[in-house]
Amino acid sequence: MSTELSPQVRRRRTFAIISHPDAGKTTLTEKLLLFSGAIQIAGSVKARKASRHATSDWMEIEKQRGISVASSVMQMEYRDCVINLLDTPGHQDFSEDTYRVLTAVDAALMVIDAANGVEPQTRRLLQVCRARNTPILTFVNKMDREVQEPLTLMDEIERELGMTVVPFTWPVGMGKQFHGVMDLRKEQMRVFSPGEDRAAGEEEVLQGLNHPEYASRFGMQYEQAEGEIELVRDAAPAFDKEQFLAGHQTPMFFGSAVNNFGVQEVLDALVDLAPSPAARPAMQRVVEPDEAKFSGVVFKIQANMDPAHRDRIAFLRVASGHFERGMRLKVVRSGKELRPNSVVSFLSQRRELLDEAFAGDIIGIPNHGVLQLGDTITEGEQLQFTGLPFFAPEMFRAVEVADPLRTKQLRAGLTQLGEEGAIQVFRPVAGSVLLLGAVGQLQFEVVAHRLEHEYGVKARIMPSRFQVARWVTCDEADGGDRELKRFIDANAHRVAYDAVDAPTVLVEYAPELRAIESNWPKIKFHAMREHA
Ligand code: G4P
Repeated sequence: MSTELSPQVRRRRTFAIISHPDAGKTTLTEKLLLFSGAIQIAGSVKARKASRHATSDWMEIEKQRGISVASSVMQMEYRDCVINLLDTPGHQDFSEDTYRVLTAVDAALMVIDAANGVEPQTRRLLQVCRARNTPILTFVNKMDREVQEPLTLMDEIERELGMTVVPFTWPVGMGKQFHGVMDLRKEQMRVFSPGEDRAAGEEEVLQGLNHPEYASRFGMQYEQAEGEIELVRDAAPAFDKEQFLAGHQTPMFFGSAVNNFGVQEVLDALVDLAPSPAARPAMQRVVEPDEAKFSGVVFKIQANMDPAHRDRIAFLRVASGHFERGMRLKVVRSGKELRPNSVVSFLSQRRELLDEAFAGDIIGIPNHGVLQLGDTITEGEQLQFTGLPFFAPEMFRAVEVADPLRTKQLRAGLTQLGEEGAIQVFRPVAGSVLLLGAVGQLQFEVVAHRLEHEYGVKARIMPSRFQVARWVTCDEADGGDRELKRFIDANAHRVAYDAVDAPTVLVEYAPELRAIESNWPKIKFHAMREHA
């Protein structure tokens, strides 16, 4: 079906960059923005050098640690497309946040450090993409350094990540002898010259994969590349769009982000190959992106993004329809009406007022707790999108406030941070000490820091004996809420409620959990819950 919304949907590309820390994600992000004209200041990475503060990092704590904690959103226009780039925290301690961001994209760009090859965090993030069949483009970065041989890298990516790699470009040399890349499709060579400040179209381009000049100019690096290209062209399968869209094949590009080299090829490939927004499953039905009525899902909440305003923004991925400022919307979970007049879109680090948005776009709705992670927003239809994951925490801490007079602020702060998904907060059935659950140690530190700086609460974060958590439910056929209540009453010393009041059982050791499971056959134990 084609509607008048279709052209708008077709021109949208929504993607995220996934990589191990230090592979060059921030640098590449800035170069992509530069190429699309979203930022004009070349060399802003240099500025970052001084401040350790990139365009996509917002929070004070990120500056301190040099880690991208918050995921941010950037929108840019390139050729006739609108590109939404969602930033993801690279540090594994924030992987939960990243998983949720990845539910909002239609494609991912994987950045590999050519010296280090496939690294642990890349592997983990890729698994999440694979689970959702997200198409992946691969950018092999830092070719201006002494790195691994391209054939070795290609082999490693195929072996470690279980995808077929189809090279779209091929490097000629590396490090000090890096001469450029061959574009295997356009059959031309883009000659490398170092420098950050170059814009698109300023590079020297030589036509043909074999040019009389190549051997004399690029010497043995060219001869090696020529042999490799021959090998790759014989051995690698042809690019198959269906295979790519299913996440089985990945087009591979070589370059040097910091030198702004090879970046445009990636941007072009995103426009040419990455899919436009697809239909999204809801519990009730599948929602097409070009349906007339608006719908969207909250995949991220962030409080106090702008310390001057102490605001809280829900990031919503538009799933269908046409969003217009001031339109009347409904939060399906609560039935509450929402009339967002000040909706923001994101362009580089500026936040701008947004007038309209289409499927694939990300909009930010400032609110005071009306919106929660996983919420579906519609024009009235009872829809609940599925697939936003919460993972059972693997680390636990008890939290207390140093000054008892600030207990209220502690609870308020933790409620907000919990609703944001920055940490999971559990209220034990027995006892009054709140428990924090995380997947990474750093999350506790960030929470302590934010409690102090955003809520004025000095929190004492203390060890907890718990090590494993499982959400518990009971099907109607097995006794439903009555059986669940019986379980909770019998296990009051180890049951707690999470931020959305879902009951959770907490234990010290995995064998203890197995014992509980066999004693309560009608209860279901979940390591992951989806927002319902
Ligand atoms: P991240 O967001 O993935 O963590 O990586 P980021 O872009 O911050 O890049 C990590 C480091 O790698 C930075 O150096 C950056 O300058 C460098 N880098 C990025 N792309 C390239 C490239 O193509 N070639 C080379 N040689 N280096 C690259 P740093 O030492 O951490 O900081 P800086 O002092 O250089 O800014």
